Amino acid sequence: MSETLSPLDEAGIRGAVAEAQTAFTAATTHEELKAARAAHIGDSAPITLANAQIRHLEKKDKPTAGKLLGAARKEIMAAFNAATERVDAAELERALATETVDVTVPVSAAPRGARHPLTTLANDIEDFFISMGWDIAEGPEIEHEWFNFDSLNFGPDHPARQMQDTFYVQGVETVGAKEGHGEPGAPTSSLEETEHLVLRTHTSPVQSRSLLSRGVPLYIACPGKVFRTDALDATHTPVFHQVEALAVDEGLTMAHLKGTLDHFARTMFGPDAKTRLRPSYFPFTEPSAEMDLWFPQKAGGPGWIEWGGCGMVNPAVLANNGIDPTRYTGFAFGMGIERTLMLRNSIADMRDMVEGDVRFSTQFGTTGRGI
Ligand code: DAH
Repeated sequence: MSETLSPLDEAGIRGAVAEAQTAFTAATTHEELKAARAAHIGDSAPITLANAQIRHLEKKDKPTAGKLLGAARKEIMAAFNAATERVDAAELERALATETVDVTVPVSAAPRGARHPLTTLANDIEDFFISMGWDIAEGPEIEHEWFNFDSLNFGPDHPARQMQDTFYVQGVETVGAKEGHGEPGAPTSSLEETEHLVLRTHTSPVQSRSLLSRGVPLYIACPGKVFRTDALDATHTPVFHQVEALAVDEGLTMAHLKGTLDHFARTMFGPDAKTRLRPSYFPFTEPSAEMDLWFPQKAGGPGWIEWGGCGMVNPAVLANNGIDPTRYTGFAFGMGIERTLMLRNSIADMRDMVEGDVRFSTQFGTTGRGI
């Protein structure tokens, strides 16, 4: 501003008002409005500077100047407020136009699906063992009877071998006996003969395969599918999943077994979970135990419930698989993955797990992992 406007210069003041009105009317954005506001209302605007001069006037002139500048300021503010309203409305209009959502556009009706909760749980179980430095092992679902029973110290007349418990397989060319193939005691031919094949009734044959193929020290877990001749009902299914755990090393005791089980229970069922052992019998462990789990969220209230089987690896199993039982000891345990899921999520009916209804999967299957 070259020359300060006099507070008594009526024409000059009118001119400043007109300039301000023109500037505000011309502004179409908040930016422009801000610049016009600084020029015509701010500290160095002509009207503001003129106002500051009033105190230098003679006393008689002060009211006139005050009135003139007061009226001018009022007009300028009115122009600014009107412009602000206009710009606000225009910006809103613009936003509404550019950000509209067309609710009539058809959406994709295909459901995204979900991981099955058994898959999610099996992954969590694998993570648990991997976090302890153990390996994940595998074995075939069509298994040789020797691995499923003999190598694990089941006698020839053990009731589990009977047809009413075990699916025997006929007419299969070969079996994927990749682990342990050709080892002492194991079937040595390429198994052209299709006798003695079963759908594995448990994941324990992976104990034998891993001992033969990997040797000791050995720390492995194997989640996998198993088969029994049960009819499908709320608590049985002919196809289900187990996880097998096996540790063989020098100096392993039942204390290591108990510590591992408690750690597993706490990881799966929360920090207050614990386990206890009850004497039992399995051909492949000695001593053997049923393992009970205690956890606070159990359906029906906190309490004990059977979770799986366990024990110290029977020296006969070590010997059957080429390991010196005078030097090595081991512990093993196994449990159902369906059962673990049922306990953890209070699921009453096993059939929900095999029906493939995505509503079941989304309810339990996606926790923590996404799809
Ligand atoms: N194989 C047993 C079953 O199917 C479960 C089991 C029990 C596995 C004791 C083990 C064990 O490793 O030590 O019922």
